[in-house]
Amino acid sequence: MNDILAQDTPRWQFIEQTVGDVLAAYGYQEIRLPIVEKTELFKRSIGEMTDIVEKEMYTFEDRNGDSLTLRPEGTAGCVRAVIQNGLIYNQQQRFWYAGPMFRHERPQKGRYRQFHQIGVEAFGMPGPDVDAEVIAISDRIFRRLGIDTVTLEINTLGTASCRAAYRDVLVQYFRDHQAALDEDSLRRLESNPLRILDSKNPAMQAVIAAAPQLADYLDDESRAHFDRLRELLDRLNIRYRLNPRLVRGLDYYTHVVFEWVTDRLGAQNAVCSGGRYDGLVSQLGGSVTPAVGFALGLERTVALLELSGHAGISREPQVYLVCAGEQAELVGLSLAEQLRNEVPDLRVQCNCGGGSFKAQLKRADRSGAEIAVILGEREANSGQAQIKPLRVDREQMTVGLDTVAETIVSWLGTQVDGDQPA
Ligand code: HAM
Repeated sequence: MNDILAQDTPRWQFIEQTVGDVLAAYGYQEIRLPIVEKTELFKRSIGEMTDIVEKEMYTFEDRNGDSLTLRPEGTAGCVRAVIQNGLIYNQQQRFWYAGPMFRHERPQKGRYRQFHQIGVEAFGMPGPDVDAEVIAISDRIFRRLGIDTVTLEINTLGTASCRAAYRDVLVQYFRDHQAALDEDSLRRLESNPLRILDSKNPAMQAVIAAAPQLADYLDDESRAHFDRLRELLDRLNIRYRLNPRLVRGLDYYTHVVFEWVTDRLGAQNAVCSGGRYDGLVSQLGGSVTPAVGFALGLERTVALLELSGHAGISREPQVYLVCAGEQAELVGLSLAEQLRNEVPDLRVQCNCGGGSFKAQLKRADRSGAEIAVILGEREANSGQAQIKPLRVDREQMTVGLDTVAETIVSWLGTQVDGDQPA
């Protein structure tokens, strides 16, 4: 679990703001959900036999003896919320949420025990038009962020019934090749055989490559759904790679599953993942409601943004107010407020805690500000201030207090219009 410190938050804010803007452009509304849910919810939705539920959940008993779990992902809680609040009864909904998720995994680069997602869920539309829409959202997010080191992979798991037929064939195949399976896969053979296909064990790649493919067991409906989605993606110019081995680690998926992967983050290659889950709402007690969504992993997105050289949104002060002496302090603090009144987006940091001119100018420089406004006793008494360039290319000058704002605005040019890329 990481602290996200001030040198990193500009990239987080850039991502959060960009994703929020993109989602608004597609008509998705934000909802905010609890971090803790009943343990049962995750068992029933993600699946008893998945890695997450078997070994990664932070589960505890509360004072009433109820078993609660820190959410390992957002879809289950979102479905619980839309059922409980009656939001999907005969209605379509498009929602997004953001926040921390918790999985007790073995930490490594890009894999943490508290991590953050922005999740997107669309309810009440059977697709594949809305499948194409959510994929287009994820595509636009990466383009807006300037991240071009990700590739889209898609697959279809078909309907629950054709997957069941395929499951039987697969179990038979792996039983016939039992000697080639590692311990983990032997365990999964009865419980969750599709996950064997996901194994990264190099010694098993040959037996996996030769395994029967789900594509050969799809029914007509599943095939038509997937073909239409591919046609829509082609029309939207969204490039993808078909990955018949993509099965995902959560049990609720049907039809399309997708993942944006990268080779820049070591073993943790999925940056954004999702798919359709038509059975989940009814499985959790709601009426039959088709649904599709994805979640963007923020730590991995931040890491890719950093590799691309993007510094994020700077919120460093633009102006540092130096004031030495009692009168200067009085005038200085009110001048700073006046500047914030006159130029609402301007970021002004005031020197507090005294110090010599030299010490204050050092702080001014360290603050990252472009400009120092300097008030000594002489300036304070004569109603003037010195404007000193720290990073802008200008000559130091002395101006009347009522023209400080004007001078700063002209020195900073367009930079005072809200948030700036650093
Ligand atoms: P997921 O694949 O488990 O899907 O997680 C989505 C994303 O969260 C991953 O692609 C990855 O970027 C990030 N992530 C997962 N685990 C970690 C970790 N331990 N450390 C850092 N990042 C991580 C879901 O959670 C589904 N709820 C997505 C979804 C929404 N499907 C439909 N709607």
